[in-house]
Amino acid sequence: MTAPLLSFEDYLRQPPEARMTHYVRKGRLYHVMLPQQFEEPLMEELFDTADLIKEITRKPNGSGFLKSVLRHKKAMLYFTQPSTRTFLSFLAACQLVGIDTAEVRDPSLSSEYKGESQEDGVRVFSSYFDCIVMRDPKPGFCEYMAYLLDATGRSVPILNGGSGKDQHPTQALLDLYTMHRSFFNRGGLRKKRYAFVGDLLRGRAVRSSVYLLSQFQDLEFHFVAPAAFQIAPDLEDHLKTLGISYQLSEDLESVLPEMDCVYMTRLQDEYDLSGESQLVDYSRYSLDLEKVQKMKQDSIILHPLPRRDEIHPEVDADPRAVYWRQLRNGMYLRAALLLHVFGAAHRLQEY
Ligand code: CP
Repeated sequence: MTAPLLSFEDYLRQPPEARMTHYVRKGRLYHVMLPQQFEEPLMEELFDTADLIKEITRKPNGSGFLKSVLRHKKAMLYFTQPSTRTFLSFLAACQLVGIDTAEVRDPSLSSEYKGESQEDGVRVFSSYFDCIVMRDPKPGFCEYMAYLLDATGRSVPILNGGSGKDQHPTQALLDLYTMHRSFFNRGGLRKKRYAFVGDLLRGRAVRSSVYLLSQFQDLEFHFVAPAAFQIAPDLEDHLKTLGISYQLSEDLESVLPEMDCVYMTRLQDEYDLSGESQLVDYSRYSLDLEKVQKMKQDSIILHPLPRRDEIHPEVDADPRAVYWRQLRNGMYLRAALLLHVFGAAHRLQEY
């Protein structure tokens, strides 16, 4: 007799460590859901693969070779929350390694309009495609769909492209890949001071990047935010448990001169319940050239983008601004992740 299916709430009541055990197969990641799935050796493997993909694309016939690696695979890009970068970089990453794609971005054009449940809709995708890249506003929904596909016997890998205010693991990976490349000749990610700035309560990119970075020793975190949007208690508990040094502040200018990395974010007012964003002066959490001049010469500025006013465009030309590089790094990194999930990274050695 098969076990009864767990409800969405009951599934997510299990601790992340227990859920994560179901996301691995044949010694590699199968479902990509949480930043906690990526330990340092795996991150290094993905960073090396991304470097290699980038190098191969520049070689004669390199793009043609890459396109042959996963040309037998098909991916569904199911994005029910707005996206430019994550959607397009997954699309471009699929194109790089030869994966055919289809997309649903507006559920009102699918049979959800006729009353089909989202769960049934995703199960339909698994009949036609070899993997599903998913963005959804409900925290944990991607994870529940991975569980449901596994439990109902027609499973394909699901990659979380952003789950509400909860997690954005591939954004975190591309953030750390960008930091890794920037700090390559400065001892890597360790022994650095990282400031995360802005709406830290509701920014999933910050949550995931802090979870991922917290695996490294000798880091110092500074969380600079309006009091109403400071990091969530569970993230603070996580850092306390690991004994990682962190400070909370509302004053960006006092923190800037000491930082190696400043990670800016926009106000996430799409999650407002009753106009709470209106109550904060977000201009205090912005960078212009005058403030950037107070930073260390070899520091870096990241932003997951999109931005509004929190980084003035005049900062873009400063060598410390690496947020445009993050975009391209994201495409290579996501291509590396697809090769890993399909067990095909070793094929790059054939080139
Ligand atoms: N950084 C990011 O997730 O951007 P999009 O919302 O445009 O995908």
